Amino acid sequence: MSFDPFKQKVKPVCDAFECWKDLLVKPYDKRSADPYTKLRVILMNGTEFEANWFSHQFSRHCNINDLRREIALVRRVEQQQQKKISALKPVDETVLETTIGYEQLAVELTANLARREKDPYVKMTLDFALLEDFDHLYRFSNMLMHDMNVDASRLVGERTEITPGRPTVAEHRFPADDVRRACDNKKADPLTRLNAAIITAAEQQTMNFYMNVGNTYPTEEGKKLFLEIAMIEEQHVTQYGCLMDTTCTWLAGLLEHEYTECYLYYSCALDETDPRIKKVWEAMLEQELSHLHKAAELLERYEKRDYTSVFPHPAFPEPLAFGKDNIPYVRDVLKNTVRMTSKEEDYVEVADLKKDDVFFTHNKRVNGKAADEPAHAVIESYLTAHGEDFRFETEPNPVPELACRTRDNTTVGLGG
Ligand SMILES: [Fe+2]
Ligand SMILES: [Fe+2]
Ligand SMILES: [Fe+2]
Ligand SMILES: [Fe+2]
Repeated sequence: MSFDPFKQKVKPVCDAFECWKDLLVKPYDKRSADPYTKLRVILMNGTEFEANWFSHQFSRHCNINDLRREIALVRRVEQQQQKKISALKPVDETVLETTIGYEQLAVELTANLARREKDPYVKMTLDFALLEDFDHLYRFSNMLMHDMNVDASRLVGERTEITPGRPTVAEHRFPADDVRRACDNKKADPLTRLNAAIITAAEQQTMNFYMNVGNTYPTEEGKKLFLEIAMIEEQHVTQYGCLMDTTCTWLAGLLEHEYTECYLYYSCALDETDPRIKKVWEAMLEQELSHLHKAAELLERYEKRDYTSVFPHPAFPEPLAFGKDNIPYVRDVLKNTVRMTSKEEDYVEVADLKKDDVFFTHNKRVNGKAADEPAHAVIESYLTAHGEDFRFETEPNPVPELACRTRDNTTVGLGG
């Protein structure tokens, strides 16, 4: 049955305020929690971060204080929601273990979105970054086993393969080549709009996480790995942020954000297997519905237009569900597109670039010698200690050059 969030009964926004003890919920147990529950916690933390920062930016670009008071009220609830969700993460989950969750989310979420995406350009954009986060998962997993003796295949519940993707060394592009064409929300499919908004917030959360905690890793080698991969997340946020419609007003943007939040909590509540956490998602959905209705009311009051001018078909499309087996899909994308890069707005084979293209000069400038590149060095250390790298594969890597477990390839994706 279709769910139209605008047709639901809602409570006043203020009803959501809670006392401190109710906000500090009990964390999940990192040993028994389902990996997808952990992914939902990261995803919704990132969604709330985006809701907060969008709202602050809106306020800073608005000269009507009555309107700023309304959005301050909603924003306070967004902050509470973020606090409650972040309290679900246990303190004994280390930064590196959490990082595995971030990269697993990047792989699983991106694959889920790409598989339902009808716009070939947006799908290619998703597939493109998917392979890069897939490689990050492999690099961080090797460091986790090497430094902490923790098996990442257990953390990902053996639902995501751990094997090289587009080697991180090949991911460093000149900034101008990460800009993408924006979607036009008046023409875009409802799922495309949602996909762009969801993935931008999720990748932004990863970028922020590495910006804030990357420097806390205890080893020099690990600090460098976080630093290098954090720079790729900046590229991902640039490309995904570019997809978002640039023509909507701040109030229409607010409505878009609330709609996306409602859709995600609706999806999480349906998908969640932990009954206690399912209740959290349900309560959040109720709060978001009141935000959405408030945003529609503000659009009406200040722009004299109805929410249907932004959402002509407001009923939710199919919910987002984790748990699809994405392994064959990711293997296919890897096999077919590992040697691609982006040139301005388009995707090209690295082999088709001119030898003096800025891709090569920029890449060389930041990486220096292959041995100095942190993502490669981490695997080299692992190989020196163990002889073979750490992987979790259902079959050998589909790219022959990446199938070797005793040598880390640094040329695939760089013209090799
Ligand atoms: Fe929210
Ligand atoms: Fe990543
Ligand atoms: Fe990423
Ligand atoms: Fe909200």
